[in-house]
Amino acid sequence: MNGGGKVACVTGATGYIASWIVKLLLLRGYTVKATVRDPKDTKKTKHLLALEGAEERLKLFKADLLEEGSVQQAIEGCDGVFHIASPVILTATDPQAFQAELIDPAVKGTMNVLKTCAKASSVKRVVVTSSTAVVLGCKPPLGPNDVVDETFFSYPNFCLEMQPTLNFSIEVIVDLLNGKSPPNSFYYRFVDVRDVSLAHIKAFEVPSANGRYIIVDPNTTMKDIKKNEESDEMMNEMTYKVCVEKVKCLGIEFTPIEETLRDTIVSLKEKCLYNKPTEDPNHR
Ligand SMILES: NC(=O)c1ccc[n+]([C@@H]2O[C@H](COP(=O)([O-])OP(=O)(O)OC[C@H]3O[C@@H](n4cnc5c(N)ncnc54)[C@H](OP(=O)(O)O)[C@@H]3O)[C@@H](O)[C@H]2O)c1
Repeated sequence: MNGGGKVACVTGATGYIASWIVKLLLLRGYTVKATVRDPKDTKKTKHLLALEGAEERLKLFKADLLEEGSVQQAIEGCDGVFHIASPVILTATDPQAFQAELIDPAVKGTMNVLKTCAKASSVKRVVVTSSTAVVLGCKPPLGPNDVVDETFFSYPNFCLEMQPTLNFSIEVIVDLLNGKSPPNSFYYRFVDVRDVSLAHIKAFEVPSANGRYIIVDPNTTMKDIKKNEESDEMMNEMTYKVCVEKVKCLGIEFTPIEETLRDTIVSLKEKCLYNKPTEDPNHR
């Protein structure tokens, strides 16, 4: 087991991506110190406590991104830190709320975690999760011949002008199944959360890993999933290519999109989060 004897901290462990990282770390033999906002909220933590190896090697710590030093106890003694906690859903309509509810926890929270890591002599590497929003907001807008890689940076002003409503990634799938178009969906790409969590761990384990990594399925665009002739032209214009050679060097092989979507739909149905409408003849 790659992680045997090693200790890793995962922030925001109740979240979608972080939960998978905790699961994979435990399976690889790591001891995991996971931060959550409310350890007593069993609705959010019971899936973590039920994971294989959790009883022996998972400990939950209470931490809030905006409280300076609140991650200290969880980070102390760790070999690696995976900083995943960040607000992802937001319905704020005014810029001040946008700043307070999204930007502050994301930026100040990351600084808080990094400062604590810098003080902890045991920490050898920190892996921070971001979003493709940090590379796609270019000016002029990306076109079909642009190949996005880790050297791209979004223009900060473009990001501030963006539609301030962020949906859960899985809600995107539910919306698609229901025939809805989420805002800005033309720009969306997909990637299997199991590939994402493995990439995080490889970014810690592979000695040569460094800098930024983009992980999205390079071959599938929204156009391939959402067959909509009316918007085909627009989708062609807004499409861009992505270079994922760097993350492949970590040993990541992309799960085929068919498998990702199939497993997502099975899981949504198991959890009663999606029921195929039967009364609508367009949904078959
Ligand atoms: N999912 C995707 O498709 C996707 C794609 C690209 C990038 N990302 C990035 O990956 C990261 C995680 O995304 P996700 O989809 O896994 O999100 P998620 O399921 O919404 O999880 C977010 C986590 O952050 C925690 N959190 C939020 N605000 C916090 C605060 N003030 N203090 C402490 N913890 C806080 C949440 O805790 P509570 O449970 O207490 O709310 C939750 O555990 C984000 O940075 C996101 O931008 C995600």
